[in-house]
Amino acid sequence: MKKLRKIIIDTDPGIDDAVAIAAALFDERLDIKLFTTVAGNVSVDKVTKNLLKLLAFWNKDVPVAIGSDRPLLREAINASDIHGSTGMDGYEFPESKYELLTKNHAVIEMYKVLMDSKEKTTIVGIGPLTNIALLLRIYPECVERIEELVIMGGSLGRGNQGALSEFNIAADPEAAKIVFESRVPLTMVGLDVGEKALVLSKEREEIQKMNRTGNMIDHLFKKYRGGSLDKGLKMYDGCAIAYLLAPEMFEVKETYVAVETQGTLTAGATLVDLDGYLGKVANSRVCVDIDEQLFRQWFLEAIEKCS
Ligand code: RIB
Ligand code: CA
Repeated sequence: MKKLRKIIIDTDPGIDDAVAIAAALFDERLDIKLFTTVAGNVSVDKVTKNLLKLLAFWNKDVPVAIGSDRPLLREAINASDIHGSTGMDGYEFPESKYELLTKNHAVIEMYKVLMDSKEKTTIVGIGPLTNIALLLRIYPECVERIEELVIMGGSLGRGNQGALSEFNIAADPEAAKIVFESRVPLTMVGLDVGEKALVLSKEREEIQKMNRTGNMIDHLFKKYRGGSLDKGLKMYDGCAIAYLLAPEMFEVKETYVAVETQGTLTAGATLVDLDGYLGKVANSRVCVDIDEQLFRQWFLEAIEKCS
């Protein structure tokens, strides 16, 4: 099958990142040109090690460029309470593909991929937006080379890091503000769909014996605290890949999104202005709902494709 879409994945693995990466690596419609890592769930060193372990597990040779080790302005936060101290607790990976590491910083490697490709490239951001903000600031000419920026982040309402802030945005609100104001074609895959993209015990039982990837991911799930084993595990980052591959399962609305950076209590909140109170031109496509059953079916089919 012809590869339909060139993509770059900027990530902070992260147990839910691992699921998203598996789904992307084994779908023939995606041509992953580069992975870039960013400090988020845990330090950039740890998330990079986690990504190299995953690529060794699947024996996939995609270049990996290390990115920002901290937010643009603020002190780093982390989500080790959700993913464990390693950022990907639960499974002993024997090897890492260190040979995949590039010598340049993630931002430079992203720029090279975007400018060297005659077709436009999609960027999938499933961690804090620090690298992507730097890319847009240092190399504004690359905006026209970006087909679409699909980010896991934000929320129409309640948060999961703060009362009103989702982790990826809360980790670097200034970076998110730069990205949302950049006019790059942006799709926001936020908590409103991520909280409904659940892996239930039925799906866990199915993947356990499906293949070695299912078995490994189920081990990670035992340590994952994004949701719960009885109520369902939240596949936040998997949603961003599901949007790329099966957009029909989402309800999407074009609207203006602003990122709060000044509030002492609200920094990192995404104000999704569906009713146009701010009178601004839309800058995002926002996923406002998802077909939960279709997502669970998609998840099983995605894991089944893995080796
Ligand atoms: O809020 C969920 C997001 O924060 C996901 O990307 C998860 O991996 C963490 O980075
Ligand atoms: Ca992530």
